[in-house]
Amino acid sequence: MGKALQGVRILDFTHVQSGPTCTQLLAWFGADVIKVERPGEGDITRSQLRDLPDADSLYFTMLNHNKRSITLDTKTPKGKEVLEALIKTCDVMVENFAPGVLDRMGFTWERIQELNPAMIVASVKGFGPGPFENCKVYENVAQCAGGAASTTGFDDGPPMVTGAQIGDSGTGLHLALGIVTALYQRRETGRGQKVLAAMQDAVLNLCRVKLRDQQRLAHGPMKEYPQYPNGEFGDTVPRAGNASGGGQPGWILKCKGWETDPNAYIYFIAQAPVWKSICKVIGKEEWITDPDYATPVARLPRLMEIFGTVEEWTKTLTKFEVMDILNKYDIPCGPILSMKEIAEDKSLYETGTLVEVEHPTRGSYLTVGNPIKLSDSPTEVTRSPLLGEHTDEILRDVLGFSEREIMDIRDSGAIGVVERLAAE
Ligand SMILES: CC(C)(COP(=O)(O)OP(=O)(O)OC[C@H]1O[C@@H](n2cnc3c(N)ncnc32)[C@H](O)[C@@H]1OP(=O)(O)O)[C@@H](O)C(=O)NCCC(=O)NCCS
Repeated sequence: MGKALQGVRILDFTHVQSGPTCTQLLAWFGADVIKVERPGEGDITRSQLRDLPDADSLYFTMLNHNKRSITLDTKTPKGKEVLEALIKTCDVMVENFAPGVLDRMGFTWERIQELNPAMIVASVKGFGPGPFENCKVYENVAQCAGGAASTTGFDDGPPMVTGAQIGDSGTGLHLALGIVTALYQRRETGRGQKVLAAMQDAVLNLCRVKLRDQQRLAHGPMKEYPQYPNGEFGDTVPRAGNASGGGQPGWILKCKGWETDPNAYIYFIAQAPVWKSICKVIGKEEWITDPDYATPVARLPRLMEIFGTVEEWTKTLTKFEVMDILNKYDIPCGPILSMKEIAEDKSLYETGTLVEVEHPTRGSYLTVGNPIKLSDSPTEVTRSPLLGEHTDEILRDVLGFSEREIMDIRDSGAIGVVERLAAE
């Protein structure tokens, strides 16, 4: 069966997390992704947070599936020649270097256009044009600058970052959409274009509802926030603890075993259409008609008291028992799942969301597969490449260099002759 992006060739000049998540997705959709890495070290994540002494780290392997790797020192004349050949043959260059790096290397947008006017150059940067455009940025900086940290956590505590990598992987996703959109437009225009996803912008996009609330604040307190009715609202969106972001009030409640299990909790939503069922399940049938509880508006000032009462009930059952019971009545809820529980969930393996992958130096490891399922373009997850594993194959088969030319490139040191000699 063919793949959606079959025939698209990507020059993957990415490193760390944000760029690699983007190119990994494109590879899963069938693009030929050629990862260009510095000889010797390669992507810095190969050796970061290592769990096994001489194997590529999980950090690297879990972000670079289905790619090929070529080592190339793009600061040497021969390295530049090879990079130019790659630019001429690829459809898209994806990069997430610090601002100015590509220009310093000699590969400005103008130069790339000269080499290949149809090339799409897609970049992740920390910030868009403006006061911070030259800053280097990592995940948590983006979460802070994009509005996530100021709106996450509890009102009486400091700003909090979230475990979801919305700055890195979130921006990678945005960039991938920009790339396929530019490819689509290129079918008409024949031209490439620049695609920019700034991490601050991507995080802000994911925090859209908080900017909504910033504007709602001007018209009085936000009644679904835990600060209402007794707490103070200032002039900016406060941290809402575990309150539901939408119009349906929700909170995290303790379940049986919470004293020892940090994840014995359930997210419970007091959805208005099922209020009667909620009252029956928790044994508070009088709330169905009591004017203080019967309508969503009447409940707003009492939400924390209501959640406290529901929690008295949830504490008597495990989170999965609560889930079973509430689902029978269509009451929205969700167990707080630990990473261990997720890794043991068989259904996630059946859908390809979790995948076991074989790797020559680290053995088998668990990874997250493609979360986006296409019925006509199924994903087969293959292991990440070893550093420079496909260098010869790419020089020969993709770029058409002769054996003599490849020898010259090798002898120049551009693809890592130093290590090769050291190994001999
Ligand atoms: C992530 C980040 C902070 C890392 O910074 P860093 O480790 O210092 O890496 P840089 O991007 O600055 O690149 C470092 C150098 O490696 C060089 N380099 C990279 N690949 C190379 C190659 N194949 N051959 C030769 N040199 C190479 C670059 O040319 C650059 O050199 P220069 O500074 O002398 O011009 C930075 O790249 C960044 O801000 N990226 C944009 C935002 C982003 O994606 N952040 C999230 C990452 S998950």
